Amino acid sequence: MNGSESLSEKRIVVTGGAGFVGSHLAERLAERASVVVADDLSNGRREWVPDDATFVRADLTDRDDVAEAITSDVDLVCHLAASKSVDTDRPREQFESNAAMTHNVTERMRAVGVPEILFTSSSTVYGEAPRPTPEDYAPLEPISAYGASKLSDEALLSVYANSYDLTARIVRFANVVGPRLRGAVIPDFIDKLREDPDSLRILGDGRQEKSYLHVDDCVDAICHVLAAADSPVATFNLGTRTTTSVTRIADVVSETMGLEPAYEYTGGERGWTGDVPKMRLSIEKLAALGWVPERSSEAAVEAATEQLLAEMSDIDGRSRSGSTERKTASQ
Ligand SMILES: NC(=O)c1ccc[n+]([C@@H]2O[C@H](COP(=O)([O-])OP(=O)(O)OC[C@H]3O[C@@H](n4cnc5c(N)ncnc54)[C@H](O)[C@@H]3O)[C@@H](O)[C@H]2O)c1
Repeated sequence: MNGSESLSEKRIVVTGGAGFVGSHLAERLAERASVVVADDLSNGRREWVPDDATFVRADLTDRDDVAEAITSDVDLVCHLAASKSVDTDRPREQFESNAAMTHNVTERMRAVGVPEILFTSSSTVYGEAPRPTPEDYAPLEPISAYGASKLSDEALLSVYANSYDLTARIVRFANVVGPRLRGAVIPDFIDKLREDPDSLRILGDGRQEKSYLHVDDCVDAICHVLAAADSPVATFNLGTRTTTSVTRIADVVSETMGLEPAYEYTGGERGWTGDVPKMRLSIEKLAALGWVPERSSEAAVEAATEQLLAEMSDIDGRSRSGSTERKTASQ
């Protein structure tokens, strides 16, 4: 069961729906529901928005833009828009922007009577917790402004659910991978190896060990949560029961590209300040409701590597034929 049956005929706003996970979710939801994508395209692409969705270019830190995107006929908001990198150079800006977006969205929902929100949170709310980490683990001590912003957004949703009759579904993702992924370890290794096939610089000691979830499984899980959760605030981890080390990811990417680069480690147990080096979420709460991922962590990494390589070779092909066309036109 993929849960999307219950979404038929609903009007759903997907914030961040031009981004990686949001565009895959919008595609799935648009098979059954009427979908509006709201995104400022700061990290998304217009061409990733499905043709059968309505697109509103909106900066969700701006209340007027939010009002344009979320109207009184909306049944559900899937709120994915966020500044998502663990960026230690600008903690205030990132925290404030994520908080402003979520507060603007919930206030607008309250004002026009939209009853339900799904919010994409992150494993980073747990900080460096014992593994597998269940949803009720405490104390929640994030180690990045990004993690703190997600935790504060969750707290705000609890307020709106308890005081203003909003139903809130919160999904805490492990690392999601798949087509359209940018700014993460797999596309980073691919880019580096395309530039220099003989050596690969790896951040940290390569022993960071995290759980990777394929975006198809992630979208299935979200639909399942939307169909199955039944309390005013319901929080679920989304991940895999297994993990993959960074060195293993380097091996998968190198092997898939047919390369044998020399690895050069920058050293230290974490890749960067704010990085949680070991992460595995307990997924038993959602498993009890009938969802388990089809792919293991390693299978997700393998599939995503192949899909991203195919995507990049398509882009190369298009830009080559584009430059030939331009050349022809200018001759
Ligand atoms: N990808 C992962 O591994 C992962 C892990 C944990 C949590 N998450 C969360 O899932 C959600 C989706 O992540 P993603 O990987 O697809 O990221 P993404 O960056 O591809 O998508 C986020 C989208 O939000 C949009 N956006 C950013 N600021 C905006 C603003 N001010 N107004 C309107 N739109 C804005 C961007 O343009 C982008 O399209 C995010 O909330 C992220 O924090 C993702």
